[in-house]
Amino acid sequence: MNRLPPAPSNCCSFEDYKLTTDWLKKQTRHRPTVAVICGSGLGLLADRATDKQTFRYQDIPNFPVSTVQGHEGCLVFGTIEETSCVFMQGHFHLYEGYSLCKVTFPVRIFKLLGVEALVVTNASGGICPDFKVGDIMVIKDHINLPGFAGQHPLCGPNDDRFGTRFPCMSDAYSKELRRQCVDVGTALGCGSFIREGVYCMVSGPNFETIAEARMLQILGCDSVGMSTVPEVTVAKHCGMRVLGLSLITNKVSLDYSREEKVNHEEVLQISKMRAEVIREMVTRMISRCTQSINTH
Ligand code: HPA
Repeated sequence: MNRLPPAPSNCCSFEDYKLTTDWLKKQTRHRPTVAVICGSGLGLLADRATDKQTFRYQDIPNFPVSTVQGHEGCLVFGTIEETSCVFMQGHFHLYEGYSLCKVTFPVRIFKLLGVEALVVTNASGGICPDFKVGDIMVIKDHINLPGFAGQHPLCGPNDDRFGTRFPCMSDAYSKELRRQCVDVGTALGCGSFIREGVYCMVSGPNFETIAEARMLQILGCDSVGMSTVPEVTVAKHCGMRVLGLSLITNKVSLDYSREEKVNHEEVLQISKMRAEVIREMVTRMISRCTQSINTH
């Protein structure tokens, strides 16, 4: 018999995931193949979907509940160009105090619902000197800095029903989806502010010191943020294809003489400025995600 060691108390069991999935399947006829995690201020990514059905996180059994204010904290099912999708409006961060098991809980629900491709969006600070505020970075690769320190969503007993013990991460972000996304952005007239680069996750909640930012630059990071990597890691573990978009909302200070100070309002303001174009990119990429699933 294939016996798993007891799960740590902060960890979700297969039965927990199953219960939530079964509940959702009873509540909706949608069977999504693409999931979208909307970054801060990007809840409107679901706007173009038709036939929508919305669930508040607090009403979904076992689902973590958002600590963020406002309209976020909803799971929205809908259809975009005949593709059934699910959108997370609001997501969970390590700095809010959630375990990584809770942060990534929705990704495994998506897997059990039949999702094959995950689109993640977030806000990050630009480290690459060529990046400007308002640039949209297609994530090429990531550095899991909390993971290096043992804050990793796959630590603990491995559940083979989701994926292998030692998953490969050398192709975490689908090359084909990245290339298509750059093409889609260019066709939308965004060519001058689309970039590609390496995203680094830090736990936050503070923004980086200058010494930390310089270290990240030496390590090869193009931008830094406080989310996304755990969800992508769990998605890749269970075989999903991933597309990541990171909006550069501020430039990270790398220089002691720089006077500007980053703040959360700035991050939200820039997100608002680019929200519509990101929505168009994501909307157009959704059908491509399924096309690439079908030909894969
Ligand atoms: N650092 C970390 N996270 C962020 C930043 C930043 O500069 N900007 C937006 N999210």
